Amino acid sequence: MSAESSNEKCLSDYTYLFKPDLLKGKVAFVTGGATGICFTIAEILMRHKCDTVIASRKWDRLQESAKELERGTGRKCLPVKMDVRKPEEIQAAVDKALETFGRIDILINGAAGNFLSPAAGLSFNAFRTVMEIDAHGTFNVMKVVYEKYMKNHGGVIVNITATLQIRGQMLQLHAGAAKAAIETMTKHLAVEWGKDKIRVMCVAPGPVADTEGYRRLGGRSVDSEYEKAIPIQRVGTREDIGNTVIYVVSDAAQLLTGTTIIADGGHWLTSDNNYHRVQRLFQSGQAKL
Ligand code: NAP
Ligand code: COA
Repeated sequence: MSAESSNEKCLSDYTYLFKPDLLKGKVAFVTGGATGICFTIAEILMRHKCDTVIASRKWDRLQESAKELERGTGRKCLPVKMDVRKPEEIQAAVDKALETFGRIDILINGAAGNFLSPAAGLSFNAFRTVMEIDAHGTFNVMKVVYEKYMKNHGGVIVNITATLQIRGQMLQLHAGAAKAAIETMTKHLAVEWGKDKIRVMCVAPGPVADTEGYRRLGGRSVDSEYEKAIPIQRVGTREDIGNTVIYVVSDAAQLLTGTTIIADGGHWLTSDNNYHRVQRLFQSGQAKL
């Protein structure tokens, strides 16, 4: 298996909280859907009878993940290779999605890049890269999907953010700045595109187990003390985030637009943000740099 292979597997068991045919006839375009949280978001959308398009850079992973999503859910999944920083690639990917399915009812913007770094240790290019993938990338995809489909048909956009930007998390200037920009764009677009019957939302996960983000940002150091400090006494699961997204895209959430659902069990209210403790974690190598 190459380093770029997908190791993703669908959930072995899933309990429906909403009607299983909630999204029948709909199509979702999911950036970052070949891996991690967004793979499971795609899976849970598909379990509710939605077809999906998954979009990111690594073609082998995309193909393998699409096959696994189809196997696990019985729905269709189209893999498309694109870099969210490249408008022409997004335009081609959205054209391919529309040729295949004829519609895009739901857009999930989950593509992102992150790592731990002190602000002063970021090169100019490192800061720019994270801003370009997360913030510019989210804008680029929203603009193309709006122009090519949602402007005339409506839809729901869900941007995946985080909680780092709320308090100003240590070692996360780049990602926090990008996620804050996404949350601000979400408000502006909710106002501008509401008349087009488009809702624009953010879902902000806290730490989510069994993900690349968790591994990079210190997941290996999580112990029972850490979990006890979280109000709900555990970290999130990918399924938790998928279920939150299902609610946000459903008609139960018709009044929700221009805001962020924080899905973190209250973690941001109580989590450590102490310079010296986090610095020790960073230096001990428990978090991947
Ligand atoms: P992940 O599996 O690494 O997901 C990131 C995805 O983005 C990958 O599929 C990656 O695929 C894609 N991507 C990166 N750069 C791209 C680019 N330039 N163009 C297109 N696609 C690109 O990480 P994850 O931990 O599940 O994170 C998913 C989302 O949740 C992210 O928005 C993250 O910020 C957010 N989040 C995660 C956590 C957590 O605990 N994991 C907490 C809060 C928020 P390629 O590399 O193949 O392009
Ligand atoms: N600490 C500090 N700087 C880092 C870094 C780290 N751990 N990793 C990368 N950078 C810097 C690079 O050195 C480079 O800057 P330079 O040219 O001044 O040396 C800059 O960031 C861009 O790196 P590059 O590898 O060229 O970018 P890329 O576009 O190929 O990859 C990343 C983007 C860096 C975000 C990469 O980690 C990635 O693709 N991540 C996707 C998966 C992910 O992050 N998942 C978690 C989501 S929460």
